[in-house]
Amino acid sequence: MRVLGIETSCDETGVAVYDSDTGLLADQLYSQVEVHAEYGGVVPELASRDHIRKLVPLIRQVLVESESTKEDIDAIAYTAGPGLIGALMVGASVARSLGFAWQVPVLGVHHMEGHLLAPMLEDNPPAFPFVALLVSGGHTQLIQVDGIGHYQLLGESLDDAAGEAFDKAAKMLGLDYPGGPRIAALAEQGTEGRFRFPRPMTDRPGLEFSFSGLKTFTLNTTEKLRQQGDLNAQGKADIARAFQEAVVDTLVIKCKRALQQTGMKRLVIAGGVSANRMLRERLEKMMTKQRAELFYARPEFCTDNGAMIAYAGCQRLMAGEQDDLRIQAKPRWPMGELPKIGG
Ligand code: KG4
Ligand code: ZN
Repeated sequence: MRVLGIETSCDETGVAVYDSDTGLLADQLYSQVEVHAEYGGVVPELASRDHIRKLVPLIRQVLVESESTKEDIDAIAYTAGPGLIGALMVGASVARSLGFAWQVPVLGVHHMEGHLLAPMLEDNPPAFPFVALLVSGGHTQLIQVDGIGHYQLLGESLDDAAGEAFDKAAKMLGLDYPGGPRIAALAEQGTEGRFRFPRPMTDRPGLEFSFSGLKTFTLNTTEKLRQQGDLNAQGKADIARAFQEAVVDTLVIKCKRALQQTGMKRLVIAGGVSANRMLRERLEKMMTKQRAELFYARPEFCTDNGAMIAYAGCQRLMAGEQDDLRIQAKPRWPMGELPKIGG
């Protein structure tokens, strides 16, 4: 089955063609980062307008790249949520209309399921069951995954998501949006051990997260350095380093705990923050000690992309799922509501 995948939930227009026999045939991404950078975050109305401008040209491009005509496309998958309502509406309307015109099935895909399954696009994909750490701009969740749709939430953030914390800390240091990659780059120049930030909620049992206290700690440390006249390039790098260490350490501790609690030997990390190099390295170390295996996608498939939507959609379409003619756009959509595939 050959599926056209469309992702427009936030600030990237992602389009891809995935074929269940031959794999990923084409993948195009247009990032709106420059549009939003001057505002320090995503402006929803500008995001919707930019998706409108870019989506159809990108669809034409992936059809050419995958050497597909419209007759070769068996189905269309689009991100139906969660995300920005206007942005979702663009992808949903185009997907639904194209499906109607081409007379092919259409399926609305859950954005976080897309992230969760993205590591399946790599060589040596993880087998079920596994524990998944989903870390994006809007979500921080630990999930036991027994199959597609068989999701048991083990714990999640009570306040900010990990990616959101990266973005807010970056803003405090005067770095551009999106903050995650910028903090990560700056942290490389940071001095290990100059500051020690708290590891929230690691001193008690449980798999919940909380990152808002870490945000306050970052703000206070930044202000203190500013008052001392020490908020220079090195000072900022040292804060970035301490902040990243604290987030990474916290995530590693909770992942280890989730593996012990479930008895699982496989961990999948997905979502934008899973691109973080320090997180990957520290997790690899912990996993080796635990004689367990870590799985993640290539960096460009950790952040938003069309390939993950084409892939996740293809799995569900092959299982016989398809939508009616309604255009679906759900800003909030708990993953637990997704149908289970295979009993
Ligand atoms: O999955 P994603 O692209 O979009 C959402 O579904 O939210 O995740 C975006 C988030 C942003 O908060 C961004 O700062 C963060 O992922 N991020 C990173 C890195 N790359 C992206 N955080 C830490 N280190 C990175 N290398
Ligand atoms: Zn995402």
